[in-house]
Amino acid sequence: MSPSLIDDFGRRVDYVRLSVTDRCDFRCVYCMSEEMTFLPRAQVLTLEELAQVARAFVELGVAKIRLTGGEPLVRRGIDTLVEEVGALDGLRDFAMTTNGAGLRKWAPALRRGGLGRLNISLDSLDADKFRRLTRTGDLHKVIDGIHAAQDAGFQGIKLNAVILKGRNDDEVLDLVEFARRESLDISFIEEMPLGQVSDHGRDETYCSSDEVQALIEARYPLMPTAEVTPGPSRYFRMADHASRIGFISPHSHNFCASCNRVRVTVEGRLLLCLGNEHSVDLRAVLRRYPSDLERLKAAIVAAMPLKPERHHFTTDGDVQVVRFMNMTGG
Ligand code: GTP
Ligand code: 5AD
Ligand code: SF4
Repeated sequence: MSPSLIDDFGRRVDYVRLSVTDRCDFRCVYCMSEEMTFLPRAQVLTLEELAQVARAFVELGVAKIRLTGGEPLVRRGIDTLVEEVGALDGLRDFAMTTNGAGLRKWAPALRRGGLGRLNISLDSLDADKFRRLTRTGDLHKVIDGIHAAQDAGFQGIKLNAVILKGRNDDEVLDLVEFARRESLDISFIEEMPLGQVSDHGRDETYCSSDEVQALIEARYPLMPTAEVTPGPSRYFRMADHASRIGFISPHSHNFCASCNRVRVTVEGRLLLCLGNEHSVDLRAVLRRYPSDLERLKAAIVAAMPLKPERHHFTTDGDVQVVRFMNMTGG
């Protein structure tokens, strides 16, 4: 039997989100503070260490790896890392979550390197609003990036939109129309209380998935899909189109009971839950015993009992977790 990682609640961990950088060329208002500083290079896992971590997890039965950030495409050498991880025997689903701005440059190399799927963040289709939400982002570059990914042959691209009341909740239907035109799936996300943001009170901007769903249903009745995914998205279909609509609702429908994932932060901290601080320092193991894969695997196996049952996010504006999303891998 192949090895597997099981936590104390009987959940099988077969999905790892690997953050490859805390840096990003955007500063999305829900993800980063404006005056964000980034980690010194020495604290960040090297490309070799990242590849070693990926190998250890795959040897422990993990079938799905997603590269995240920060923005993975600003990490120098990302193409080499993709190639190395893409070649791991046993990896069945290899994906990346990106802001899309670097895809015109990178999409062909990612495809050649064996990356299978892309999730691309897109919160607005209005260039000014997009700039306000991302602080530095250029909408046209992202749309062009989506087209570049399609040109490179990526199938099953998914869009992610975090909806904030008063900021982009008036664009829900436009985003659905865009997804339909481009034949892409789209997930609408409730904002999570990670890191202290200065630009808005999270209690004021909270927009539940049910509200977003009602806005969509006014034009397109939604039918639940029969798919049971271990992921956060609950998917629906429209009668007249193949694009799926997903809702990621950490507040209103938390999916912790079926959680199948862990994260590795950019500093090599194995984080057992997005909404808690339980973690194990894999970097210490990697640097003390640089080529000892078995020791690394043993540290990962030993960490499983630390996975907590669930997160306890609330919408009252309190910050439950001080680290920002860019440290954690979205
Ligand atoms: P698929 O592989 O396409 O299912 O992607 P995914 O939804 O796992 O990944 P993606 O990077 O697109 O994440 C979409 C949103 O889901 C982001 O806002 C993530 O932070 C959130 N998310 C992913 N995993 C978790 C989790 O374990 N807990 C919580 N609360 N949110 C998560
Ligand atoms: N709450 C919800 N989603 C967030 N993301 C980043 N920060 C937050 C947050 N505080 C989303 C991004 C991206 C994914 C990796 O995580 O929009 O789609
Ligand atoms: Fe960058 Fe993504 Fe965070 Fe926006 S949400 S600042 S694109 S890492």
